Amino acid sequence: CRVQLWDSEEPVPRAELLAGVAGKRGLLCLLSDRIDREVLDAAGPSLKVISTMSVGFDHLSLDEIKKRGIRVGYTPDVLTDATAELSVALLLATCRRLPEALEQVKSGGWTTWKPLWMCGYGLSDSTVGIIGLGRIGQAVARRLKPFGVKKFLYTGSHPKPENAAEFEAEFVPLAKLAEESDFVVVTCALTPATQGMCNKEFFGRMKKTAVFVNTSRGAVVNQDDLYDALAQGKIAAAGLDVTTPEPLPTEHPLLSLKNCVVLPHIGSATYATRNTMAVLAADNLLAGLRGEPMPHELVL
Ligand code: NDP
Ligand code: DGY
Repeated sequence: CRVQLWDSEEPVPRAELLAGVAGKRGLLCLLSDRIDREVLDAAGPSLKVISTMSVGFDHLSLDEIKKRGIRVGYTPDVLTDATAELSVALLLATCRRLPEALEQVKSGGWTTWKPLWMCGYGLSDSTVGIIGLGRIGQAVARRLKPFGVKKFLYTGSHPKPENAAEFEAEFVPLAKLAEESDFVVVTCALTPATQGMCNKEFFGRMKKTAVFVNTSRGAVVNQDDLYDALAQGKIAAAGLDVTTPEPLPTEHPLLSLKNCVVLPHIGSATYATRNTMAVLAADNLLAGLRGEPMPHELVL
């Protein structure tokens, strides 16, 4: 192949993308590249394959892509373990207040051992609600089970008894999941149905002592409603690996809250995982260009 490469870790500027894609047969992109009608028009009819180095595909205008008969490759499975591990790390950091505690050590706030100082919430005997019991949702449940979780609840577009059996997880409506969970973990895809799903009503139903964790996409959450819920003590704490926008501006109100832990979208960020994702994205692209089955093709 002749390759035109944007040789930088920074996202390709839109104008460069639009100019660079013209007349190409294949496009390898990242989740930070919005591949919409404008890009597809700029590419023209030569474009046959899009390969994204991500499992999420909400940055791709699938209707437009399908209309033009373009094939799409993505990177499921290979990042499931890393993302589940980070989800658990974020949950524990949030419920046991690790960033706050570390700050106290550094700032001299640690004066002595005090019975109720820096207390948080533990997983033993808890109910964990998982929004989206897909690959990552199941891997999170598998890791949380040995912490002594008493009950798993999950929600989604339909019950998945074959996947839920391992955790004896109960399929419930979203409202019941909010009301009964001590921990809510969001691991669903961003779709029109899930956009803004975690809103004022949802947080209003949650327990005051409950902890909310999102490692899916920022847009699943209404961030103004989350801020109000955290600031008004309607929920105990939140851990977010994904936000709207990304990066979250440093002056964003959520960053002023002690009970909100925000990470910079690092779910899949292990060296091994990112390397495997990169190789898979390249293999998907090459297979697509050759007209062969891709290792992981998105069925449109
Ligand atoms: P899967 O396709 O395996 O799982 C997605 C889940 O979303 C499915 O279980 C699906 O459930 C669920 N879902 C769809 N619609 C709804 C709905 N209306 N309500 C609740 N759940 C719903 O994908 P993965 O587990 O591999 O990845 C999930 C997402 O995680 C990705 O799309 C991506 O956005 C994000 N991600 C984030 C990372 C990070 O760095 N933070 C890393 C990797 C992924 P059902 O089948 O019932 O519809
Ligand atoms: C994805 O793959 O969708 C993640 O958000 C980054 O790994």
